[in-house]
Amino acid sequence: MIESATIQNKLDVYSVRQQFPILNREVKGKPLVYLDNAATSQKPQVVIDALVNYYTDYNANVHRGIHTLAEEATMAFERTRDAVQQFINAESREQVIYTRGTTEGINLVSYTWGRQNIKAGDEIIVSTIEHHSNIVPWQILCEEKGAKLRVIPINDKGELLMEEFEKLLNPKTKLVSIVHASNALGTINPVKKIIDAAHKVGALVLIDGAQSTVHLDIDVQEMDCDFFVFSSHKLYGPTGIGILYGKKDLLDAMPPFQGGGEMIKEVTFEKTTYNDLPYKFEAGTPNIADTIALKAALDFVNEIGKEKIRRHEEELLAYATVQLGQIPGLRIIGRAKEKVSVISFVVDSLHPQDIGILLDNRGIAVRTGHHCAEPCMRFFEIPGTVRASFAMYNTKEEIDELVNGLQKAIKMLS
Ligand code: ALA
Repeated sequence: MIESATIQNKLDVYSVRQQFPILNREVKGKPLVYLDNAATSQKPQVVIDALVNYYTDYNANVHRGIHTLAEEATMAFERTRDAVQQFINAESREQVIYTRGTTEGINLVSYTWGRQNIKAGDEIIVSTIEHHSNIVPWQILCEEKGAKLRVIPINDKGELLMEEFEKLLNPKTKLVSIVHASNALGTINPVKKIIDAAHKVGALVLIDGAQSTVHLDIDVQEMDCDFFVFSSHKLYGPTGIGILYGKKDLLDAMPPFQGGGEMIKEVTFEKTTYNDLPYKFEAGTPNIADTIALKAALDFVNEIGKEKIRRHEEELLAYATVQLGQIPGLRIIGRAKEKVSVISFVVDSLHPQDIGILLDNRGIAVRTGHHCAEPCMRFFEIPGTVRASFAMYNTKEEIDELVNGLQKAIKMLS
């Protein structure tokens, strides 16, 4: 009984792999081993079909036409909003704003809420392990307003020093903008604790969910975050579409981000009134095809089950941590207790890029470099790492290939 229940709950990785056509290709004469999922994940056939079907069968602009194609496109486009609302458990569909991706979501908040609310002397808190997209928009805002950017330090494992964070909080803190899971190290931050502590001093919290949404269950109401942003393309969906979730009273009070069609109620040369949520923030013809295909990606993930996927990825991470740990001279960067399936490492005196090139020669795709997280790399006093990041379709055999490839690369380079 127990045995068959266990099998049922296990991800059938080989049947999952069949849904991703790209996994059949070869690179440099070798089967592709795709371990760069934190940069972007591969797309299942259902997502590719959703894109092709839109352009083949009902290509039309949305919200602007009364003809059949326009209605079909609009309905499909808006169905994604409902799917996202459920996926992150937002209170209402109006709180789901379409953006180009995580970066645009953060910039939207900094250019609208930030410019309206941040004054000279105010403070914004980020952490040492932020992606540049969650540092630079706040630096620009702080420079413009005379506000101060403060940074939560980390320990050698790549975990936030929560006591130091609490010391940074004070009545001048207006915003804490924090990554849920680090793209460079994999660290999962204790976002609920961060949010509760920030709210006690009256600060808002933005959570960068770029790396977490694909791996963890997201419940924005339970989390009680004020803003949550993520991208479709790391979640088996297309590039160029992302989501900003915000609390309704905040979104209502924020000025528009861009002016144009669709974001207005009425325009005269004397005065323009703005549309209701979510359209106030969606000026111009949107990215229709990719938005529609995002729903196909969410349905695909839901059908397999996030819990099943997470257990599979946890197994891969544990296996890779042990196997890589046995390679002499290899040092894993980022050993947080709570991690998503991202493993970053350096090898004594070898440049990450040289390792990446030799791995690519064996068909193995990893990311090398600073991962758009230079302050984090600076903390570890390294120029960058080699990063392997796992998705639902990766296997232990692929990790064996990585280990094998690394051993050969180290031999060649040493
Ligand atoms: N932010 C993406 C990464 O970590 C691109 O690779």
